[in-house]
Amino acid sequence: MDSPFEKELLFSRMVIETRVKELAEQISKDYADREPLILGVLNGAVFFVSDLVREMSIPLKIDFIRAASYGSGGSSSGFVKFTKDPELPIRGKAVILVEDIVDTGLTINQILRKLRERAPESVKVCALIDKLERRDMDVVIDYCGFQVKKGFLIGYGLDYNEQYRYLPDIYAIVKRGDL
Ligand code: PRP
Repeated sequence: MDSPFEKELLFSRMVIETRVKELAEQISKDYADREPLILGVLNGAVFFVSDLVREMSIPLKIDFIRAASYGSGGSSSGFVKFTKDPELPIRGKAVILVEDIVDTGLTINQILRKLRERAPESVKVCALIDKLERRDMDVVIDYCGFQVKKGFLIGYGLDYNEQYRYLPDIYAIVKRGDL
């Protein structure tokens, strides 16, 4: 069956690998005297978190949160649903929230608000992709992999209707037909 769209390569696996290593080095330097809690946002950040932490050179802990902000299509549903809380304690911890993508900024803002209620020592944001096209809310991204102006992206954790997350490279999809 034909793919329902064409896709253009945006970031190859090698480009991603290089950038992830750079981010990991920077974070390792910045947190040299601490043990950060790496808090990945499921599902999209799963590969990014896995690759990032394995390039870090400091002790750290890993946990995940789930915050769903999209319906099954390609546009934001305008609300965020928390379906998984962190399980490790947040109080007094140096938390690094790891996202695959910041789009409208709604999800990250909601998560930050909820986390700050739990009195962490600090919270920083690490996002592989900072996509500017639909930003509704100001977001400070402390560690950013790539800035992208626009487009719908798939691969390396990013999905379309829950498909294509497994692709090792990141693509922009070119819509076709009634998609
Ligand atoms: C994606 C992404 C971010 C959020 C960004 O998650 O992983 O969490 O959307 O969008 P926003 O800035 O407009 O809020 P999604 O809810 O699609 O879940 P997923 O990680 O399982 O793909």
